[in-house]
Amino acid sequence: MKRLVVVLGCCALVAACSNMSLRSPTATAVLAPTKGSQVAGNVKFVQRGEKVLIDARITGLTPGLHGFHVHEKGDCTAADASSAGGHFNPRKAPHAGPDIPDRHAGDLGNLNADASGVAVYHAEVGGISVGTAIDSIVGRAVIVHANADDLRTQPTGNSGARLACGLISKGQDQWF
Ligand code: CU
Ligand code: ZN
Repeated sequence: MKRLVVVLGCCALVAACSNMSLRSPTATAVLAPTKGSQVAGNVKFVQRGEKVLIDARITGLTPGLHGFHVHEKGDCTAADASSAGGHFNPRKAPHAGPDIPDRHAGDLGNLNADASGVAVYHAEVGGISVGTAIDSIVGRAVIVHANADDLRTQPTGNSGARLACGLISKGQDQWF
């Protein structure tokens, strides 16, 4: 009887842990320059409950703001990355900034590059996920643009040419 209690106790613990979302799916993208660009970098996505933590480090930029989005297709093969399609938009919403719930899921706002052309981005974003749901960013692409995203102009934010592109691939789950 004692052993049965121990076994049930373990099951309860495992169930509690999964309910608390201690399993954190992750994904990564390695961004490569488009034709004529020097922009490159890495992006990591970690699902934390309903939100996704995004950490990116991008180099080779001009100082200042650069539009930063998840685009619909995980295809960076075109020289200008036009193959990645438009902004990832599973809810058919308008273009906006990352803090607006009713937006393209892929709208991550802007990178802000320093005087040496390096941008470090850290954000906690809703409306996307890492997995298999319709708002999952796995298998899509991250794009960095030449100009600032004005967070208003439809449907692109008027952020200009695509300077780097990277396919988003599923990584190992983290257990915390
Ligand atoms: Cu974009
Ligand atoms: Zn958008």
